Amino acid sequence: MNEVLFGKFDIADYGECLIVTDAHIARLYGISGDNVFLLPRGEEAKDFANVRALCSWFLAKRLSPQGRVVAVGGGSIGDTVGFACSIFKRGVKLLHVPTTLVAMTDSAIGGKTAIDLDGVKNAVGTYCFADTLVDVGFLDTLDCEQMASGRGEIFKYRMLSDRIDGVYNGGKCDMADIVEACARYKSEVCAEDPYCGGARNKLNFGHTLGHAMELTLSLPHGIAVANGMYYETELARKLGLCSARYAAKWRSEIGDNFKIYPFTEPMFALTLNDKKNGTDGRVAFALPASFDTVRVTLADVVKLLA
Ligand SMILES: NC(=O)c1ccc[n+]([C@@H]2O[C@H](COP(=O)([O-])OP(=O)(O)OC[C@H]3O[C@@H](n4cnc5c(N)ncnc54)[C@H](O)[C@@H]3O)[C@@H](O)[C@H]2O)c1
Ligand SMILES: [Zn+2]
Repeated sequence: MNEVLFGKFDIADYGECLIVTDAHIARLYGISGDNVFLLPRGEEAKDFANVRALCSWFLAKRLSPQGRVVAVGGGSIGDTVGFACSIFKRGVKLLHVPTTLVAMTDSAIGGKTAIDLDGVKNAVGTYCFADTLVDVGFLDTLDCEQMASGRGEIFKYRMLSDRIDGVYNGGKCDMADIVEACARYKSEVCAEDPYCGGARNKLNFGHTLGHAMELTLSLPHGIAVANGMYYETELARKLGLCSARYAAKWRSEIGDNFKIYPFTEPMFALTLNDKKNGTDGRVAFALPASFDTVRVTLADVVKLLA
């Protein structure tokens, strides 16, 4: 499996590489030169037209499979560059340099890439296994909403791993320590199950109901996941998978840390669109306390969360 490294990103060390970022990050961190390609900011990057333009640039720059690309950015940059690197000449080496909390703890690790198509998010994707250099210094310029979104995913890791919960509750609650613990954890889980057939399923905790809330309420991803965890923990309790005490403890902590929105009628049907679902009309969840995949009929989900 690929390495996750922790340290300072210095642009001067990558003069021989092709660097891809967006104009905002380039301006903030002084990234410029002939070897730099700028993608649009945020989700807008994740488009075939940009992948095509990037691959044309790789050609013009005579990128060979021995060369290396460096993606400096959040999940949108990482997903787009990863996709392009996986198809250009059937694969060129990539280093992720994540600049958001979401990317440092999640999207820059594990090899999944995706772009959007016809308004469908992540409709087209590949695997592109890459090394990652995590530099928490990038968090200094991140806005509150992006930080809150990352905190939602960190909360998920706390519930999945006693070790991470221990680091979180360890007193000084240092962001660099927490990011490192989450990144290492994700890397270990992905090494065990690179192509998402087993251990990686637990990383979907909070995402089945969370995605429906994200779509309906246009919430930042991590906030929606925190809400998803709040309701999925209740579902686990009602299904007898976890104790009332466990559910009460975690739901109260989630409620203390994130704004909780009501789970409303139109969101239920959306949960059926989740990509983890089979064709049997049941909804797949990764639920506490085992976080194994559990399939529940939509009617039961509605009844249990009523
Ligand atoms: N591949 C995976 O496993 C995976 C996992 C989770 C999420 N994702 C994807 O990641 C994307 C979301 O990524 P994201 O939350 O990192 O946001 P993002 O990449 O969309 O970036 C959001 C904004 O933050 C700005 N930004 C980035 N770093 C900054 C910094 N250090 N300082 C100031 N501004 C900065 C960017 O310019 C951009 O405008 C989604 O498309 C999602 O599907 C992928
Ligand atoms: Zn997520």
